[in-house]
Amino acid sequence: MRFDIITVVPEILTSPFEASILKRAIEKGHVEIHLHNLRDYVTDNYKQIDDYQFGGGAGMVMMIEPIDKCITALKAERDYDEVIYMTPDGETLKQGIANELSLKENVIILCGHYKGVDQRVREHFVTREISIGDYVLSGGELGAAVLCDSIIRLLPGVLGNETSALTDSFQDNLLAPPIYTRPAEYNGWKVPEILTSGNTPKIEEWREEQAYARTLALRPDLLSEDEK
Ligand code: ADE
Repeated sequence: MRFDIITVVPEILTSPFEASILKRAIEKGHVEIHLHNLRDYVTDNYKQIDDYQFGGGAGMVMMIEPIDKCITALKAERDYDEVIYMTPDGETLKQGIANELSLKENVIILCGHYKGVDQRVREHFVTREISIGDYVLSGGELGAAVLCDSIIRLLPGVLGNETSALTDSFQDNLLAPPIYTRPAEYNGWKVPEILTSGNTPKIEEWREEQAYARTLALRPDLLSEDEK
């Protein structure tokens, strides 16, 4: 899978891909991340990428021309499945969206900055708008990193144990059950006995019960009416 991320602050997007699982996913060739500095697509000498709003109002708006140039140059090289704009008024990122996007080949992610982009960019270039939550960030870059992480970990071969992404919280609309490791007792605090029993079917049953109980207590909104 290939991501082309368009941004005015590429520095924000370097470190998330330079460590741990994402770094290895890139090294192993499961994913390519290409950062594009929007300023490289500006023709005027001032490298201006934003301007005042028509009609007045606080905050600068990202201009359409550099974005058009960048997206058009990318599209001349290959076909893209989606052009995603990161914005607080997009659809909220959920596991299902990450699952769906993990099946795509080539994705452009456009990061907004300042007040956002000229509306015509959204109307003519963007195919999907995604928010990472109901709060406003300084720009779309951190959202883009979150989105990429949620997708890349799902790509075949990225996680060592193929089943581990499938047992994540949210994959079956349930929160994950509690997990423990050695020692079996610490400060008198014991690991639930069932987990050290070796009885795999009973352990599975316990995990399912715990996942359901945690979801009911913490995130009942994830359950349908007849699951409650
Ligand atoms: N840009 C600013 N705020 C954002 C958010 N909550 N999600 C995605 N992109 C954003």
